[in-house]
Amino acid sequence: MISERLLAIEPSPTLALTGKVAALRSQGVEVINFGAGEPDFNTPEKICEAAHKAIRDGKTKYTASAGIIELREAICEKSIKQNRFRCEPKQVVVSCGAKQSVYGALMTLINPGDEVILISPYWMTYKDQVLLAGGTPVVVETETDDGFVPSGDRIKSAVTFKTKAIVINSPGNPTGAVYPRQVLKEIGALAIRHNLFIISDEIYEKLVYDGAEHVSIASLGEDVASRTITINGVSKTFAMTGWRIGWSVSPPEIAANISKLQDQVTSNAATVSQYAALAALQLSDDEIQDMVCEFDRRRMTMLAELAKIPGVRLQSPRGAFYAFANFESAMADRIQDDCTLAELLLDSARVACVPGSVFGGKGHLRLSYTLSPERISLGVAKIAQALESLR
Ligand SMILES: Cc1ncc(COP(=O)(O)O)c(C=O)c1O
Repeated sequence: MISERLLAIEPSPTLALTGKVAALRSQGVEVINFGAGEPDFNTPEKICEAAHKAIRDGKTKYTASAGIIELREAICEKSIKQNRFRCEPKQVVVSCGAKQSVYGALMTLINPGDEVILISPYWMTYKDQVLLAGGTPVVVETETDDGFVPSGDRIKSAVTFKTKAIVINSPGNPTGAVYPRQVLKEIGALAIRHNLFIISDEIYEKLVYDGAEHVSIASLGEDVASRTITINGVSKTFAMTGWRIGWSVSPPEIAANISKLQDQVTSNAATVSQYAALAALQLSDDEIQDMVCEFDRRRMTMLAELAKIPGVRLQSPRGAFYAFANFESAMADRIQDDCTLAELLLDSARVACVPGSVFGGKGHLRLSYTLSPERISLGVAKIAQALESLR
Protein backbone atom coordinates (compact mmCIF):
# COMPACT_ATOMS: atom_id res chain seq x y z
CA MET A 1 0.00 0.00 0.00
CA ILE A 2 2.70 2.49 1.00
CA SER A 3 5.15 3.65 -1.67
CA GLU A 4 8.66 2.21 -1.72
CA ARG A 5 9.91 5.78 -1.54
CA LEU A 6 8.34 6.27 1.86
CA LEU A 7 9.16 2.78 3.09
CA ALA A 8 12.85 3.57 2.52
CA ILE A 9 12.93 6.37 5.08
CA GLU A 10 12.57 6.67 8.85
CA PRO A 11 10.26 8.88 10.92
CA SER A 12 12.31 11.72 12.44
CA PRO A 13 13.78 10.29 15.68
CA THR A 14 14.30 13.75 17.17
CA LEU A 15 10.68 14.73 16.57
CA ALA A 16 9.64 11.38 18.09
CA LEU A 17 11.74 12.14 21.18
CA THR A 18 10.13 15.60 21.45
CA GLY A 19 6.73 13.86 21.44
CA LYS A 20 7.81 11.43 24.14
CA VAL A 21 9.10 14.23 26.38
CA ALA A 22 5.87 16.20 25.86
CA ALA A 23 3.80 13.11 26.76
CA LEU A 24 5.79 12.55 30.00
CA ARG A 25 5.51 16.22 30.93
CA SER A 26 1.76 16.18 30.36
CA GLN A 27 1.59 13.37 32.96
CA GLY A 28 3.37 15.69 35.39
CA VAL A 29 6.75 13.96 35.03
CA GLU A 30 9.72 16.33 35.33
CA VAL A 31 12.12 15.75 32.40
CA ILE A 32 15.42 17.45 31.63
CA ASN A 33 15.45 17.71 27.87
CA PHE A 34 18.82 17.65 26.13
CA GLY A 35 17.07 16.53 22.95
CA ALA A 36 15.82 19.86 21.62
CA GLY A 37 17.10 21.20 18.30
CA GLU A 38 15.96 24.75 18.91
CA PRO A 39 16.92 27.78 21.01
CA ASP A 40 14.81 28.22 24.15
CA PHE A 41 14.86 32.03 23.75
CA ASN A 42 11.88 34.04 22.53
CA THR A 43 11.93 35.56 19.06
CA PRO A 44 13.25 39.14 19.45
CA GLU A 45 10.53 41.75 19.95
CA LYS A 46 11.34 43.78 16.79
CA ILE A 47 10.70 40.70 14.66
CA CYS A 48 7.36 40.01 16.35
CA GLU A 49 6.36 43.65 15.86
CA ALA A 50 7.15 43.43 12.14
CA ALA A 51 4.90 40.37 11.89
CA HIS A 52 2.04 42.19 13.67
CA LYS A 53 2.46 45.10 11.31
CA ALA A 54 2.43 42.78 8.28
CA ILE A 55 -0.88 41.32 9.43
CA ARG A 56 -2.37 44.76 10.07
CA ASP A 57 -1.16 45.97 6.64
CA GLY A 58 -2.94 43.09 4.94
CA LYS A 59 0.22 41.20 3.95
CA THR A 60 -1.76 38.01 4.12
CA LYS A 61 -2.02 36.93 0.50
CA TYR A 62 0.05 34.60 -1.66
CA THR A 63 3.44 35.89 -2.75
CA ALA A 64 5.76 34.69 -5.53
CA SER A 65 6.75 31.07 -4.77
CA ALA A 66 10.38 32.11 -4.35
CA GLY A 67 9.44 34.79 -1.82
CA ILE A 68 8.86 38.55 -1.67
CA ILE A 69 11.46 40.54 -3.56
CA GLU A 70 12.36 42.65 -0.48
CA LEU A 71 13.38 39.50 1.41
CA ARG A 72 15.31 38.05 -1.51
CA GLU A 73 17.16 41.34 -1.88
CA ALA A 74 17.92 41.41 1.85
CA ILE A 75 19.26 37.82 1.62
CA CYS A 76 21.53 38.88 -1.26
CA GLU A 77 22.76 41.88 0.69
CA LYS A 78 23.48 39.68 3.70
CA SER A 79 25.21 37.02 1.56
CA ILE A 80 27.45 39.63 -0.06
CA LYS A 81 28.30 41.49 3.15
CA GLN A 82 28.51 38.69 5.69
CA ASN A 83 29.16 35.55 3.66
CA ARG A 84 31.28 37.22 1.01
CA PHE A 85 29.81 35.72 -2.11
CA ARG A 86 28.00 37.58 -4.86
CA CYS A 87 24.40 36.77 -5.76
CA GLU A 88 21.23 38.23 -7.24
CA PRO A 89 17.59 37.83 -6.14
CA LYS A 90 16.90 35.39 -9.01
CA GLN A 91 19.30 32.97 -7.27
CA VAL A 92 17.37 33.03 -3.99
CA VAL A 93 14.41 30.80 -3.18
CA VAL A 94 12.76 31.42 0.18
CA SER A 95 11.21 28.26 1.62
CA CYS A 96 9.32 26.93 4.64
CA GLY A 97 12.63 26.28 6.46
CA ALA A 98 16.16 25.17 5.65
CA LYS A 99 14.88 21.59 5.73
CA GLN A 100 12.70 22.30 2.70
CA SER A 101 15.59 24.08 0.98
CA VAL A 102 17.87 21.05 1.33
CA TYR A 103 15.07 18.91 -0.08
CA GLY A 104 14.57 21.33 -2.98
CA ALA A 105 18.29 21.21 -3.79
CA LEU A 106 18.43 17.40 -3.71
CA MET A 107 15.24 16.96 -5.74
CA THR A 108 16.60 19.40 -8.31
CA LEU A 109 20.01 17.75 -8.68
CA ILE A 110 19.68 14.05 -8.00
CA ASN A 111 18.66 11.35 -10.46
CA PRO A 112 17.99 7.77 -9.36
CA GLY A 113 21.33 6.05 -8.75
CA ASP A 114 23.33 9.24 -8.23
CA GLU A 115 25.59 9.13 -5.20
CA VAL A 116 25.62 11.90 -2.61
CA ILE A 117 28.49 12.15 -0.12
CA LEU A 118 27.50 12.81 3.51
CA ILE A 119 30.01 13.54 6.25
CA SER A 120 29.23 11.43 9.31
CA PRO A 121 28.00 12.12 11.95
CA TYR A 122 25.39 13.98 9.86
CA TRP A 123 21.97 15.55 10.40
CA MET A 124 19.82 12.48 9.68
CA THR A 125 17.45 14.43 7.42
CA TYR A 126 20.15 14.50 4.72
CA LYS A 127 20.19 10.73 4.44
CA ASP A 128 16.43 10.38 4.23
CA GLN A 129 16.10 13.23 1.76
CA VAL A 130 18.79 11.72 -0.49
CA LEU A 131 16.80 8.46 -0.44
CA LEU A 132 13.56 10.31 -1.20
CA ALA A 133 15.26 11.88 -4.21
CA GLY A 134 16.23 8.38 -5.42
CA GLY A 135 19.92 8.89 -4.66
CA THR A 136 22.39 6.75 -2.74
CA PRO A 137 23.98 8.23 0.39
CA VAL A 138 27.72 7.52 0.61
CA VAL A 139 29.03 8.11 4.10
CA VAL A 140 32.48 9.49 4.93
CA GLU A 141 33.43 8.97 8.57
CA THR A 142 35.11 11.52 10.82
CA GLU A 143 36.63 10.97 14.26
CA THR A 144 36.06 12.47 17.72
CA ASP A 145 39.81 13.14 18.00
CA ASP A 146 39.78 15.21 14.78
CA GLY A 147 36.91 17.30 16.13
CA PHE A 148 34.71 15.60 13.49
CA VAL A 149 36.37 17.60 10.72
CA PRO A 150 36.81 15.49 7.55
CA SER A 151 40.08 15.25 5.66
CA GLY A 152 40.11 16.03 1.94
CA ASP A 153 41.75 12.65 1.27
CA ARG A 154 38.95 10.71 2.96
CA ILE A 155 36.33 12.55 0.98
CA LYS A 156 38.32 11.98 -2.22
CA SER A 157 38.35 8.24 -1.68
CA ALA A 158 34.53 8.23 -1.56
CA VAL A 159 34.15 9.87 -4.98
CA THR A 160 33.07 7.57 -7.83
CA PHE A 161 31.86 8.24 -11.36
CA LYS A 162 28.32 8.23 -9.89
CA THR A 163 28.96 10.99 -7.34
CA LYS A 164 26.78 14.00 -8.06
CA ALA A 165 27.00 16.08 -4.90
CA ILE A 166 28.45 16.45 -1.44
CA VAL A 167 26.53 17.83 1.53
CA ILE A 168 28.47 19.82 4.10
CA ASN A 169 27.17 21.38 7.31
CA SER A 170 29.47 23.74 9.18
CA PRO A 171 28.91 24.58 11.99
CA GLY A 172 27.45 21.12 12.21
CA ASN A 173 24.58 19.25 13.79
CA PRO A 174 25.16 16.99 15.74
CA THR A 175 28.89 17.51 16.32
CA GLY A 176 29.33 21.30 16.57
CA ALA A 177 32.31 20.98 14.19
CA VAL A 178 33.37 24.13 12.36
CA TYR A 179 35.36 23.38 9.20
CA PRO A 180 38.56 25.41 8.80
CA ARG A 181 39.01 27.41 5.60
CA GLN A 182 41.71 24.99 4.39
CA VAL A 183 39.35 21.98 4.57
CA LEU A 184 36.69 23.93 2.69
CA LYS A 185 39.28 24.80 0.04
CA GLU A 186 40.09 21.10 -0.35
CA ILE A 187 36.38 20.26 -0.69
CA GLY A 188 35.95 23.07 -3.24
CA ALA A 189 38.93 21.85 -5.28
CA LEU A 190 37.62 18.29 -5.20
CA ALA A 191 34.20 19.43 -6.39
CA ILE A 192 35.76 21.31 -9.30
CA ARG A 193 38.02 18.39 -10.26
CA HIS A 194 35.22 15.82 -10.19
CA ASN A 195 32.41 18.08 -11.39
CA LEU A 196 30.36 17.78 -8.17
CA PHE A 197 27.76 20.06 -6.65
CA ILE A 198 28.13 21.23 -3.07
CA ILE A 199 25.12 21.66 -0.82
CA SER A 200 26.36 23.78 2.07
CA ASP A 201 23.96 23.99 5.02
CA GLU A 202 25.03 27.06 7.02
CA ILE A 203 22.02 27.37 9.32
CA TYR A 204 24.24 27.60 12.45
CA GLU A 205 26.64 30.17 10.96
CA LYS A 206 26.28 32.75 13.75
CA LEU A 207 26.66 30.28 16.59
CA VAL A 208 30.46 29.98 16.77
CA TYR A 209 32.70 30.11 19.84
CA ASP A 210 36.37 30.13 20.89
CA GLY A 211 37.18 32.52 18.03
CA ALA A 212 36.09 29.99 15.40
CA GLU A 213 35.46 31.55 12.00
CA HIS A 214 32.50 30.58 9.85
CA VAL A 215 33.50 30.47 6.18
CA SER A 216 30.93 30.12 3.40
CA ILE A 217 32.36 27.74 0.81
CA ALA A 218 30.76 29.84 -1.97
CA SER A 219 33.11 32.69 -0.96
CA LEU A 220 36.16 30.69 -2.06
CA GLY A 221 35.90 31.69 -5.72
CA GLU A 222 33.49 31.90 -8.62
CA ASP A 223 34.37 28.36 -9.76
CA VAL A 224 33.21 27.01 -6.36
CA ALA A 225 30.18 29.34 -6.11
CA SER A 226 28.97 28.22 -9.54
CA ARG A 227 28.48 24.66 -8.21
CA THR A 228 27.29 25.51 -4.68
CA ILE A 229 23.82 25.68 -3.20
CA THR A 230 24.09 27.60 0.06
CA ILE A 231 21.32 26.87 2.55
CA ASN A 232 20.47 29.17 5.42
CA GLY A 233 17.52 30.50 7.40
CA VAL A 234 16.31 32.35 10.48
CA SER A 235 15.35 29.39 12.69
CA LYS A 236 18.46 29.09 14.84
CA THR A 237 20.06 32.55 14.69
CA PHE A 238 16.90 34.45 15.61
CA ALA A 239 15.07 31.79 17.67
CA MET A 240 12.43 31.51 14.93
CA THR A 241 12.03 27.75 14.48
CA GLY A 242 8.24 27.93 14.41
CA TRP A 243 8.05 30.71 11.82
CA ARG A 244 9.34 28.32 9.12
CA ILE A 245 11.57 30.46 6.93
CA GLY A 246 14.72 29.23 5.22
CA TRP A 247 16.30 29.81 1.82
CA SER A 248 18.74 28.56 -0.78
CA VAL A 249 21.12 30.59 -2.91
CA SER A 250 22.19 28.74 -6.04
CA PRO A 251 23.21 29.24 -9.66
CA PRO A 252 20.22 30.73 -11.57
CA GLU A 253 19.20 27.57 -13.44
CA ILE A 254 19.15 25.51 -10.25
CA ALA A 255 17.26 28.25 -8.38
CA ALA A 256 14.62 28.37 -11.13
CA ASN A 257 14.09 24.62 -10.76
CA ILE A 258 13.99 24.68 -6.95
CA SER A 259 11.33 27.37 -7.34
CA LYS A 260 9.45 25.27 -9.92
CA LEU A 261 9.33 22.37 -7.48
CA GLN A 262 8.13 24.66 -4.72
CA ASP A 263 5.36 25.99 -7.04
CA GLN A 264 3.88 22.50 -7.07
CA VAL A 265 4.47 21.52 -3.45
CA THR A 266 3.97 24.38 -1.01
CA SER A 267 3.86 27.64 -3.03
CA ASN A 268 5.33 30.50 -0.99
CA ALA A 269 6.41 30.30 2.63
CA ALA A 270 3.93 31.99 4.97
CA THR A 271 3.71 35.65 3.97
CA VAL A 272 3.67 37.04 7.51
CA SER A 273 6.75 34.97 8.36
CA GLN A 274 8.55 36.38 5.32
CA TYR A 275 8.04 39.91 6.67
CA ALA A 276 9.24 38.73 10.07
CA ALA A 277 12.38 37.25 8.44
CA LEU A 278 12.97 40.54 6.64
CA ALA A 279 12.95 42.31 10.03
CA ALA A 280 15.31 39.65 11.41
CA LEU A 281 17.85 40.32 8.66
CA GLN A 282 17.72 44.02 9.52
CA LEU A 283 18.89 43.35 13.10
CA SER A 284 22.56 44.01 13.75
CA ASP A 285 24.84 41.23 14.95
CA ASP A 286 25.00 43.07 18.29
CA GLU A 287 21.32 42.34 18.82
CA ILE A 288 21.89 38.59 18.77
CA GLN A 289 25.21 38.72 20.61
CA ASP A 290 23.61 38.19 24.05
CA MET A 291 22.12 34.91 22.87
CA VAL A 292 25.44 33.74 21.40
CA CYS A 293 27.26 34.61 24.66
CA GLU A 294 24.63 32.76 26.67
CA PHE A 295 25.04 29.66 24.47
CA ASP A 296 28.79 29.88 24.98
CA ARG A 297 28.33 30.01 28.77
CA ARG A 298 26.09 26.94 28.61
CA ARG A 299 28.58 25.17 26.33
CA MET A 300 31.30 25.68 28.94
CA THR A 301 29.00 24.32 31.66
CA MET A 302 28.14 21.30 29.53
CA LEU A 303 31.81 20.56 28.81
CA ALA A 304 32.81 20.94 32.46
CA GLU A 305 29.99 18.69 33.68
CA LEU A 306 30.55 15.96 31.08
CA ALA A 307 34.27 15.96 31.90
CA LYS A 308 33.35 14.76 35.40
CA ILE A 309 31.87 11.49 34.09
CA PRO A 310 34.55 8.79 33.93
CA GLY A 311 35.01 7.43 30.40
CA VAL A 312 33.11 10.13 28.50
CA ARG A 313 35.14 11.50 25.56
CA LEU A 314 34.38 14.84 23.98
CA GLN A 315 36.23 17.38 21.86
CA SER A 316 35.14 20.91 22.55
CA PRO A 317 32.43 21.77 19.98
CA ARG A 318 33.11 25.18 18.40
CA GLY A 319 29.72 25.83 16.87
CA ALA A 320 25.93 25.22 16.95
CA PHE A 321 24.44 24.22 20.35
CA TYR A 322 25.19 20.52 20.68
CA ALA A 323 27.72 18.39 22.52
CA PHE A 324 28.32 15.05 20.79
CA ALA A 325 29.89 12.93 23.47
CA ASN A 326 31.34 9.44 23.17
CA PHE A 327 29.86 7.24 25.93
CA GLU A 328 31.36 3.91 24.77
CA SER A 329 33.76 3.59 27.70
CA ALA A 330 31.27 5.07 30.16
CA MET A 331 28.57 2.49 29.44
CA ALA A 332 28.36 -0.50 31.74
CA ASP A 333 28.68 -3.86 30.00
CA ARG A 334 24.98 -4.56 30.22
CA ILE A 335 24.09 -1.50 28.14
CA GLN A 336 24.50 -2.68 24.57
CA ASP A 337 24.40 0.54 22.63
CA ASP A 338 23.60 4.25 22.59
CA CYS A 339 19.90 3.66 21.79
CA THR A 340 19.50 1.48 24.89
CA LEU A 341 21.44 4.03 26.93
CA ALA A 342 19.22 6.93 25.77
CA GLU A 343 16.07 4.92 26.56
CA LEU A 344 17.37 3.99 29.95
CA LEU A 345 18.31 7.57 30.79
CA LEU A 346 14.84 8.76 29.88
CA ASP A 347 13.10 5.98 31.80
CA SER A 348 15.23 5.96 34.93
CA ALA A 349 16.86 9.41 35.20
CA ARG A 350 14.20 11.37 33.29
CA VAL A 351 16.86 12.93 31.10
CA ALA A 352 16.26 13.05 27.33
CA CYS A 353 19.24 12.76 24.94
CA VAL A 354 19.36 11.74 21.28
CA PRO A 355 21.27 8.50 20.56
CA GLY A 356 24.28 9.08 18.31
CA SER A 357 23.36 6.21 15.94
CA VAL A 358 20.56 8.38 14.63
CA PHE A 359 23.28 10.58 13.12
CA GLY A 360 25.60 7.71 12.15
CA GLY A 361 27.68 8.16 15.32
CA LYS A 362 27.35 4.91 17.28
CA GLY A 363 28.28 4.99 20.97
CA HIS A 364 27.55 8.72 21.28
CA LEU A 365 24.78 10.83 22.73
CA ARG A 366 23.83 14.26 21.43
CA LEU A 367 23.12 16.72 24.21
CA SER A 368 21.73 20.16 23.28
CA TYR A 369 22.75 22.98 25.56
CA THR A 370 19.56 24.91 24.96
CA LEU A 371 18.66 25.09 28.64
CA SER A 372 19.95 27.05 31.65
CA PRO A 373 23.39 26.23 33.09
CA GLU A 374 21.67 25.08 36.32
CA ARG A 375 19.48 22.60 34.41
CA ILE A 376 22.51 21.45 32.40
CA SER A 377 24.45 20.72 35.60
CA LEU A 378 21.48 18.93 37.14
CA GLY A 379 20.81 16.88 34.00
CA VAL A 380 24.42 15.76 33.53
CA ALA A 381 24.66 14.88 37.25
CA LYS A 382 21.59 12.67 36.78
CA ILE A 383 23.24 10.95 33.83
CA ALA A 384 26.38 10.38 35.91
CA GLN A 385 24.32 8.91 38.77
CA ALA A 386 22.37 6.63 36.40
CA LEU A 387 25.61 5.32 34.85
CA GLU A 388 27.09 4.76 38.31
CA SER A 389 24.05 2.81 39.49
CA LEU A 390 24.33 0.49 36.49
CA ARG A 391 27.89 -0.57 37.20
C1 LIG B 1 21.76 21.14 10.14
C2 LIG B 1 20.36 21.61 10.11
N1 LIG B 1 19.87 22.12 8.97
C3 LIG B 1 18.59 22.54 8.90
C4 LIG B 1 17.75 22.45 9.99
C5 LIG B 1 16.32 22.87 9.86
O1 LIG B 1 16.15 24.22 9.83
P1 LIG B 1 14.73 24.86 9.57
O2 LIG B 1 14.05 25.01 10.89
O3 LIG B 1 15.03 26.17 8.94
O4 LIG B 1 13.99 23.94 8.65
C6 LIG B 1 18.21 21.91 11.19
C7 LIG B 1 17.32 21.78 12.35
O5 LIG B 1 17.51 21.06 13.27
C8 LIG B 1 19.55 21.50 11.26
O6 LIG B 1 20.06 20.99 12.38
